[in-house]
Amino acid sequence: MSDLVLSERRGPVAWLTLNRPDALNALNGDLLNALGARLGEVAGDPRARALVVTGAGRAFAAGADIAEMRKMTPAEGRGFSQLGHAAFGVLEALEIPTIAAVNGYALGGGCELACACDWIYATERAKLGQPEVSLGLIPGFGGTSRLARKVPPGWVRELVLGGEPIGVDVGLRIGLINRSFADVDALHAAAQKMGETVAAKGPVAVAVAKRLLVEGADSDARVAHALEQEAFGGIFATEDFAEGTAAFLAKRDPEFGGR
Ligand code: COA
Repeated sequence: MSDLVLSERRGPVAWLTLNRPDALNALNGDLLNALGARLGEVAGDPRARALVVTGAGRAFAAGADIAEMRKMTPAEGRGFSQLGHAAFGVLEALEIPTIAAVNGYALGGGCELACACDWIYATERAKLGQPEVSLGLIPGFGGTSRLARKVPPGWVRELVLGGEPIGVDVGLRIGLINRSFADVDALHAAAQKMGETVAAKGPVAVAVAKRLLVEGADSDARVAHALEQEAFGGIFATEDFAEGTAAFLAKRDPEFGGR
């Protein structure tokens, strides 16, 4: 397996680290393929109950690889966009919660990668944005779609059409970033702690709730409400629900089996 994306599991928390620091983790085809493969491994690991995605060095990812894109034909450009969407689609569809730990620049494809995670933590010096129009390009891995579901409409327009990155103060204010941390060590510690917190919850409930959040975002309100009612009923048949409620009433910690 390529070392362009490093993989490890710390207890119940899987970590994927983009590892092309000399190019600020710019997303080229090889890296996107490696990311897709690593995500497949995480999906197949029953002990992974949360995922943290981060970057090696001073960037999360400074975007799609400009040097590689420069040589592409329109058909190759479309294929490259499809490759990014495929990898980020796998990430978004993971059953377990995913946290982007943004340790520096998250620009273009880097910002889109962070948006494919369930939520974003960042260091105080992080910069996020969609600078593609500065290159005469447009976002290709979800910047006009997923980012639009994370931040208010005026802000997605300013980010995508204005092309100027924002700092963490603005990112927090518009809801793109959940929390910020003084440095990378604090960021990683908080991401690991949150991953462990999530891992202690009922796994089936977390997976079903996440599926509803993803599907609900693609549905109108009536369909989303119906999906929730159906799923809510289904939860009553799970062992995790029996265990969680029994543990509460017996004033003990639950031991979830994920069934
Ligand atoms: N694609 C390819 N290579 C990239 C890259 C990208 N998106 N972003 C950075 N790199 C490379 C640089 O070319 C440089 O390589 P070199 O050392 O061989 O010259 C290396 O990473 C370090 O980047 P550099 O620009 O020297 O660092 P910096 O601190 O001066 O600036 C940024 C950092 C993020 C502001 C700057 O690299 C940048 O603007 N990158 C492009 C951001 C962008 O437009 N992303 C969207 C792409 S669609």
